[in-house]
Amino acid sequence: MNLCIVGTGYVGLVSAACFAEMGNTVCCVDVNPKVVDMLRQGKVHIYEPGLEQLVQRNTSEGRLTFTTDLAEGLENALFVFVCVGTPSRADGSCDLSYVHQVARQVGQTMKDYKIVVDKSTVPVGTADQVKALIGEELARRGLDLEFDVVSNPEFLKEGDAVSDFMKPDRVVVGTENVRTAKLLEALYAPFARSRDKLVVMGVRSAEMTKYAANCMLATKISFINEIANICERVGADVRDVRMGIGSDSRIGYHFIYPGVGYGGSCFPKDVKALIRTAREHDFTPQLLESVDEVNDRQKLVLPGKIRAYFAEQGGVEGKTLALWGLAFKASTDDVREAPALAMIRALTAAGMRVRAFDPVAGATARQALGENDLLEINGKDQYAILEGADALAVVTEWNQFRNPDFGRMKKLLKAPIVFDGRNLYQPETMAANGFAYFGIGRKP
Ligand code: UGA
Repeated sequence: MNLCIVGTGYVGLVSAACFAEMGNTVCCVDVNPKVVDMLRQGKVHIYEPGLEQLVQRNTSEGRLTFTTDLAEGLENALFVFVCVGTPSRADGSCDLSYVHQVARQVGQTMKDYKIVVDKSTVPVGTADQVKALIGEELARRGLDLEFDVVSNPEFLKEGDAVSDFMKPDRVVVGTENVRTAKLLEALYAPFARSRDKLVVMGVRSAEMTKYAANCMLATKISFINEIANICERVGADVRDVRMGIGSDSRIGYHFIYPGVGYGGSCFPKDVKALIRTAREHDFTPQLLESVDEVNDRQKLVLPGKIRAYFAEQGGVEGKTLALWGLAFKASTDDVREAPALAMIRALTAAGMRVRAFDPVAGATARQALGENDLLEINGKDQYAILEGADALAVVTEWNQFRNPDFGRMKKLLKAPIVFDGRNLYQPETMAANGFAYFGIGRKP
């Protein structure tokens, strides 16, 4: 089948490479000529395990091409996937200007039947707007071409994007048109081999499903963070509590890891956007508002522990913190809404020096944080930043932090103190190794 994919971010590029891998012919369109140039040379501008090989293979075998010209991308395509960004506005609403722009351009350039597929996460009702905008542009051209607008939200996770796309838990297709649903079923057949995985529903339900999924997952995280905060006050250990509740199949073990709060380009934005949508419809989403507030508070729990610890020594001013992990989670260079950034801002504002190490997110973090005399970033050596530091804080769960050389750490740090925002270590092991240890939701 012939596809045009507009937008080459995580969702667009991964979808394009995976569709091409299954033998489809895919043309990717992006407004950024630099990105298009890089991709043509097989260089991927985002860090995502396995993606570059997939892009290179499919580009060299001629199934995957890149252009800045939407008309060229549309030429032979039956499907047009809209995978452009939908950033948050200051008031929490979703900025749909890129989606609207693509809809207008499709209406201005299409010459035959197209199935326009919304894959970006967009508020309920967006597909109807896209339909209206394309119709308006066609009318302006005096044309009466047939087209369909489908909602097909994407559920992939950064860091596991390729495998999530290749083996989805489900594929949601929102359309009222049976023929269009059949065409999408055929396109996804190699991924969703079992028919049960394809869930066809109305357009608005599909749009809502994406928000419901992310809000449910964000709720699980805020819930366990709240439990963790109570655990440490009553002398319980949230690690045991998680095992105890996760064994109930109705609860499950996943997404109940307590930590430094959820970050990334999705959960914070999507929770806020659904709150906004609910309010626009005169409904107060009390639970979601709490999920959001609990998360904001959670991002400051680890810096709070650090400040409390150093309070007896005259405060954090002039002290140096070594920090492991800047990305919002492991296996990505993405620092959007990363808890590490909130933490660095809070601690440097209080006068603390921060020396941070991340295996891949150093450059993106520097760009997000700007120049700051109190911040040093190292992307090469996780141990070098420990030398003479007053304490270590672990913020991202990169595998290389899981089993570190505790002896070496103890020698390098000025004092053996570890603040563990991901509960990577065991309090008993840390005590045996002579460290003062502070986790999340664990017995002090
Ligand atoms: C999330 C969803 O998991 C995907 O299904 C969805 O497609 C995507 O958003 C999206 O809407 O595009 P992602 O943001 O890549 O994916 O990352 P997650 O692995 O879900 O992690 C999100 C945040 O929650 C991270 O900061 C992570 O550290 C945190 N988290 C996750 C926890 O604190 N505890 C957990 O138990 C799980």
